[in-house]
Amino acid sequence: MDEKIFNKGYKYKPVKTKRLLLIKPDIKYKEELYKLYEDKNLWIYNGSGDNKNSRKIVEKQILRKVDAWKKRKGASFFITYENKLIGSIDIFTIIKDFKRCDLGFMLHSSYWNKGFMSEAIKAYIHFLFKNTCIKRIAAEVCTKNIGSIKVLEKSKFKKEGLLKKSAIYNGKVYDNYLYALLK
Ligand SMILES: CC(C)(COP(=O)(O)OP(=O)(O)OC[C@H]1O[C@@H](n2cnc3c(N)ncnc32)[C@H](O)[C@@H]1OP(=O)(O)O)[C@@H](O)C(=O)NCCC(=O)NCCS
Repeated sequence: MDEKIFNKGYKYKPVKTKRLLLIKPDIKYKEELYKLYEDKNLWIYNGSGDNKNSRKIVEKQILRKVDAWKKRKGASFFITYENKLIGSIDIFTIIKDFKRCDLGFMLHSSYWNKGFMSEAIKAYIHFLFKNTCIKRIAAEVCTKNIGSIKVLEKSKFKKEGLLKKSAIYNGKVYDNYLYALLK
């Protein structure tokens, strides 16, 4: 099955915004990513059950993303600011036949509330709709994750529903909202 999501002729180049540079994941950033993940604030309403990110897990995660880029079936970016890795933005559960995917994003908490993620998402969405087959981007967000809800709403995502008891963050069960943006 052809899993490539990029349009014909697409050639990688970093995505530039006013203040940020979104770059392809590379194993050389593994220590920086590991450090980023040490920020406990990232995992309050985000991530999987335990969020134990050992160096091995982080390395594997990067290699998976690098491989997805190589096969043109993934389009994750690291978010850098002044040459420092400060976050990531990603699509996952990509279903090429339905032209849809889910969106994930995170930013080190020392950079929160400065408009950085809104800036990154705007550029990323433009990039996805221009260069890939994706026509629907969904995001599940904890009903308590106000910063993330605000970012999605500022980025024109529409709330489509409530997913009751659909997530566990730090061992507690939460409701998520389902948001989505159509091309
Ligand atoms: C969600 C996240 C990416 C937001 O990044 P950010 O760069 O701070 O986002 P922005 O600055 O672009 O926008 C955040 C908005 O939420 C507002 N906000 C944040 N926390 C808030 C709160 N507790 N109450 C009210 N408003 C809040 C900010 O004031 C800002 O709104 P404004 O632009 O109108 O001032 C960041 O908080 C993060 O990485 N969180 C941890 C990981 C995560 O939850 N990822 C999303 C999973 S769905």
